[in-house]
Amino acid sequence: MSQVHVSRHPLVLHKLTLLRNKDTDHRAFRELVYELALLLCYEATQDLILTDEPVTTPLATTAGHRVTQTIGLVPILRAGLGLVDGVMELLPSVQVWHIGLYRDEQTLRPVEYYNRLPTEPTVQVCLVLDPMLATGGSAVATIDILKRWGVTKIKFLGLIAAPEGIKRLSDAHPDVPIHVGAVDDHLNEIGFIVPGLGDAGDRQFGT
Ligand code: PRP
Repeated sequence: MSQVHVSRHPLVLHKLTLLRNKDTDHRAFRELVYELALLLCYEATQDLILTDEPVTTPLATTAGHRVTQTIGLVPILRAGLGLVDGVMELLPSVQVWHIGLYRDEQTLRPVEYYNRLPTEPTVQVCLVLDPMLATGGSAVATIDILKRWGVTKIKFLGLIAAPEGIKRLSDAHPDVPIHVGAVDDHLNEIGFIVPGLGDAGDRQFGT
């Protein structure tokens, strides 16, 4: 079973409520996604490995620290794109590797349409970004791709999950911690998270 981290931070709960509201327009929606990505990234990076690096202040030399792991962000297109900038605000040196998947509306199975990963892995840690973890199919397929690429340390970062998605992801990849802002009630018959926020891609991009 994966570690599942559901944020309890008051700012996350406040901003998620604004995000869910059907009257929130595209511009405000994108700003909230950016801010939530930043807050959830802060929580999801608590166990990054540090190396010691002394620093000289104007007064003395003292112990310091540096994050030296190479980190890759893997936004799942399209909706995952909105989470990239907020995470990069905190981790400006990351590599961004896009994976394009869409859910077939009939079968709800993920269909891969974009993947330009090089042959050899170039990062040590991957953060998979997707606002919605619904059936979990897209996240599982993306993590399958990353593991085949050779990355062993992977985390999932999302805004809202369905219990079904948490179970599917954690059954398929029990080693992958899941960081989300909320776990909602259920998936409806067409695979939407209820109460959720609607379609995260459409609400960000005005489609
Ligand atoms: C949505 C969402 C996830 C996926 C979640 O994307 O952004 O990627 O569905 O569903 P799952 O957990 O059941 O796989 P969608 O296929 O609508 O594509 P989009 O991001 O281009 O809107």
